[in-house]
Amino acid sequence: MGIQISPSILSSDFAYLAQECERVSSADWLHVDVMDNHFVPNLTLGLPVVESLLQAVHTPIDCHLMIEDPDRWAPAYAEAGVQSVTFHVEAAHAPIRLARELRNQGARAGMALKPATPVTPYADMLAELDMLLLMTVEPGFGGQKFLDLVVPKIRHAAELIKGRDIDVWLQVDGGVSAETIEVCAEAGADVFVAGSAVFGAEDPERAIANLRALATAAANEPIDTERL
Ligand code: DX5
Ligand code: ZN
Repeated sequence: MGIQISPSILSSDFAYLAQECERVSSADWLHVDVMDNHFVPNLTLGLPVVESLLQAVHTPIDCHLMIEDPDRWAPAYAEAGVQSVTFHVEAAHAPIRLARELRNQGARAGMALKPATPVTPYADMLAELDMLLLMTVEPGFGGQKFLDLVVPKIRHAAELIKGRDIDVWLQVDGGVSAETIEVCAEAGADVFVAGSAVFGAEDPERAIANLRALATAAANEPIDTERL
């Protein structure tokens, strides 16, 4: 599939959501952060807003559910037509059953890991997923600093996926910018969430094009991680 850019609308102006989404029409996905004020200490939006967005925009929606009990709440997002639904493994009671349910509803199934959650225990269930999301900040807020301690985990996850010869996208989310996207791409990530780096830019489309170019070049060419 190659490099994909998924701008996070968390950094957009919620009063003008549909217009904000139009400002990033070259994006591959729209990353929608759902927060419940329990799994993370912040509250954003939920299913009714996502349903309206599905009507209002053409870009596929990549829903990142930072909520408790995704087993109960996530399938409704898939049922509503969200093209990619990602739940947190730390909150899921039965992640394999949930991933299968999401796929049965026609969505891509994604599973997210917080920065301190290791990927190795989940190696055997990777084939149940369409995407693995490795958080590169503690989830909850946009505009945080990229945690480069996650880079070895990105590399390890990419190796696990490659070793199993499965088609699982590897997404990174948090602090991804022109300064940090290359090291993620070089480590093997292929789907990049960027909030402040896109919506905080004067020209969001140009920011997307720049991120895409940097990631594409870095994916094909090892870079010096000392530069970070
Ligand atoms: C954080 C969210 C991210 C956030 C990214 O919990 O999951 O999607 O919006 O924002 P930036 O790119 O500004 O770190
Ligand atoms: Zn997110």
